[in-house]
This record gives sequence, C-alpha cells and structure tokens, in this order.
Amino acid sequence: MIDNQILKNKTILYAEDESIIQDGVTETLNLFGLNVICAENGEEALSLFKNSENKIDLILTDIKMPRLDGLGFIKKVREVNNDIPVIITTAHQETNYLMQSIELNISAYILKPINIYKLEEILIKAIEPSVLKEQLIEKNKKLEIEIKKNKEKQKIMEAQSRFAAMGEMISMIAHQWRQPLASIGTASFNLKYKLNSEKYDLTTQKGRDEQTDFFSKKLDEIEFYVQNLTTTIDDFRNFYRTDKKLSKTCIENPIKNSLKILQKDLQTNNISINLDLKSKKLINIYENEITHVFLNIIKNAADKFLEKQIVDAEIKIITSDLEDKVKVEIIDNGGIIEKENLDIIFEPYYSTKKEKNGTGIGLYMSKTIIENNHDGKIVVENTNDGVCFSIILDCMI
Ligand SMILES: Nc1ncnc2c1ncn2[C@@H]1O[C@H](COP(=O)(O)OP(=O)(O)O)[C@@H](O)[C@H]1O
Ligand SMILES: [Mg+2]
Repeated sequence: MIDNQILKNKTILYAEDESIIQDGVTETLNLFGLNVICAENGEEALSLFKNSENKIDLILTDIKMPRLDGLGFIKKVREVNNDIPVIITTAHQETNYLMQSIELNISAYILKPINIYKLEEILIKAIEPSVLKEQLIEKNKKLEIEIKKNKEKQKIMEAQSRFAAMGEMISMIAHQWRQPLASIGTASFNLKYKLNSEKYDLTTQKGRDEQTDFFSKKLDEIEFYVQNLTTTIDDFRNFYRTDKKLSKTCIENPIKNSLKILQKDLQTNNISINLDLKSKKLINIYENEITHVFLNIIKNAADKFLEKQIVDAEIKIITSDLEDKVKVEIIDNGGIIEKENLDIIFEPYYSTKKEKNGTGIGLYMSKTIIENNHDGKIVVENTNDGVCFSIILDCMI
C-alpha cells in the first residue's frame, strides 16, 4: 500500500522567491527523499517545467513572486497539463486566492510559515492519486499482456488438439480401410487368377455365362468395398470439417456419430457398447465439437481397457432429459481413477500415456468445448459401476 516511500525519488518543482525559506524547505524536501528543482519566480518555474520532458511529478509554489506570480504560473501549466499535482504556499490568507486555486485544480493550499510535519502528509496526499493511476495503468498493461499470452496459448492448444485428432483420424481410417482394401485385393487377385488359368470354356455358351457370372460377382464385391471406403472418408470429412455452425439436434446424433467413427476399433477390441438413449429434447450445439468430446471420452475408456486387458469391457451411455437440460453419462467398467487424480485429469498435458503418444489434451479440450463453447458442465466421478463422465447441456425451450 501507499506509505511515505511514495515520495522517494520523485521530482518536485519548487518555486519560492525568498531564498531563506527556499533553502530550509528544500532541505526538508530532500529529507523526504524528493529530488528538488528550484525556481526563484514564476517565469523561471514555467521554463523549467516546459523543459523538464515530463520528469516533474509534483509542483510546490509560492503565490507572491516577481515576474510571474504562482497562480499565473499554474494557469500556464494547466494549459498543457491538467493532471500534475500542485500545492500552493502563501502568507496571504485571502479568499480570492483560494477561489482561483480551486479553479486551477490545486491539491492543497498551505499557509506560511510551513509546518514541516504537515508538509510530508500533504505531499503524500497530493501525489497519491497520480501514483495510483500510474500503478493501475501498469497493472492494466500487465493484465493485457497476460490475456494476450493466454489467448495465444489457447490457440496453440487448439492446434495441438487438431493435430492429435488428425493423427487419430488417420489411424482410424487406416484401421477401417484395412479390411475393404484386403477384400478388394483378394477379389482382383481371383479375377486375374481365373483369367490366367483359363478355366472357362469360352467356346460354349455355358462357359461364357459362367465367366460373366464370376466376373460380375467379383466386380460387385469390389464396388461394394469401394463404396465402403468412400463412406468412411465422408464420415471423417464431415466430422473434421472446420466450419463452426450451431445446429439444433438431439444429443443422440453426436453420440452415434462418434460410435460410427470408433465402431471398428471397438469391435476389434471386443468392447461392447450399452446404449440407453432416453433424451429427446433439442439442443443447440456445434455438433462436430460435441462429437469430438464423446470420441475423446470413449477412446480414453478403450485405451484403459486395452492397457489393463479387461475381458468383459463395456461402455454404458445413458442420456436423459432434465427440466431444461440434457444429461449424458458415460460409464466404463475398466476400474476407477485414483482419488488424487480426479481433479487433474482435465488439466492440459496431464496424461498417463506419455510413452504411448498420449497428449493430455483430449479431456482439456473436451472441458473447453463443453464449458466455454456450450456453457455446459462436465464432471468425472468414480461410481460403483466404474468411472463416470457426466455432461450437462442446456436444451432449447
Ligand atoms: N475413463 C478413464 N478411466 C481412467 N482414467 C482416465 C479415463 N479417461 C481419462 N483418464 C486419464 O486422464 C488422462 C488424460 O486424458 P486425455 O486428456 O484424454 O489425454 P490422453 O488420452 O492423451 O492421455 C489420461 O492419460 C488418463 O490417465
Ligand atoms: Mg485421450
């Protein structure tokens, strides 16, 4: 807080024509820690002030002085600077001086002889507002820098999360494509084999028909698998589209989208999904973002099942309608989260899978999406059935 340290190293311009008084007061001002610039009349004071390059923090001036008096001096100062604190000293107790001083926005008015014990207090009071203002400006600047830094950090994290998501997407596409690609390979190999082995007797109608049948069956198969590949790409492309548009939908849709994307992964790892989707109310959401949240949560559960080699792995997803909200619970039976970790799993970069490419961003981004972008709530708790992530979103009225 403010104390008498406030005067330390501040510069005061002191105008006083009587040298004995000037010497004495200057000594006192020095004792307070002030740098003192002295002037013997208003004119000199004004020229010192104008040449000071804003280095003067405070003005102390007598009124009656030769050439230009104290009030005339301050009037000129006020033309260029309305903020600098000014204290007036005078031996004249005249009210019109007082009135003029008030108009000039004077901080204090001291009668001579100056009581030096009072002087320190008056100086502090005079300079306090401008120092506080400076401190406030300084704090504001720091705050602005901090806010800018945070915004940049957020951007970096969003980019990291997009990269992580893209990595996951590529591995999931690769996964989903493996089987149809293998089937296309087998079909075309068989076609080539038949052609080479010339198994059909093309001199007879029967042989020609058999060949046509075989070829069209194989070509249908290839077409079916190509369709399958295309659908996979479309699903992912829709999901990773960057356009941000709110859509009115049921919570069921993003849940099903995420399951569609994860379907192969879950099947391969024998993870069963138990759906109890009761919610029918409409919500206004960024559907891709919410899909991403479900994807993150379900993927985390799947990671844990694999790591712990859980046999009867199951993820239960329950949705329900509350009065003006929609609730989703995602429960996995892969064991609980240590109590001390429950609070930190949403923190950025917290991951227990660092050596397996864990980024620790999934849940942080999920929380940002739910709580910042959708004004909702996401919490995690250990229940008798296992780890439960609950998400609550406002529904449309
Ligand atoms: N269902 C869950 N059960 C147990 N631990 C979990 C579960 N979901 C997340 N976690 C923990 O939270 C951490 C952070 O998750 P996340 O932010 O998705 O990052 P990452 O998956 O890259 O590690 C995980 O590393 C894991 O330790
Ligand atoms: Mg994760």
